[in-house]
Amino acid sequence: MSTTQENLMAAFAGESQANRKYLAFAAAADKEGMHQVAKLFRAAAAAETVHAHAHLKNAGKIGNTMANLKSAIEGETYEFTTMYPDMIKQAQAEGQSAVAKYFDFANQVEEIHAKLYQKALENPAALPATDYYVCKVCGYTHEGPCDACPVCGGGAAAFFKVED
Ligand SMILES: [Fe+2]
Ligand SMILES: [Fe+2]
Repeated sequence: MSTTQENLMAAFAGESQANRKYLAFAAAADKEGMHQVAKLFRAAAAAETVHAHAHLKNAGKIGNTMANLKSAIEGETYEFTTMYPDMIKQAQAEGQSAVAKYFDFANQVEEIHAKLYQKALENPAALPATDYYVCKVCGYTHEGPCDACPVCGGGAAAFFKVED
């Protein structure tokens, strides 16, 4: 890999993290009633997304949708077969049971993502024409509305519809 290619992926990772961090900071600012600061965080977050997407594109990592589905399956599969299982064990070994539990939530959800993507890869035209709902506690992702999260046990109120 060339240095520039490595730099593109490092910059993509950094900008991606900044995006999610600023959105979390914006929500915290809103809670404190500091709405203009929240707006500033959201504006910078949007700009980091512009940067992240440009870096990913320049790295040649955005393909056609079938290639992107394969890439997504690869990433999710790494997470639920290697990354999270190791992290769960390490968190348990360090007595961080709440962290281990949440890693396990994420682990279960990544496996579900891999399955949903696999289904799309096999026949994108056969995907149900429905909205997707996500559990705000654990991230469980469901085709259509859901009133009982199979991962964390949340009820209907835990779910939000993902906008198009
Ligand atoms: Fe995932
Ligand atoms: Fe959940």
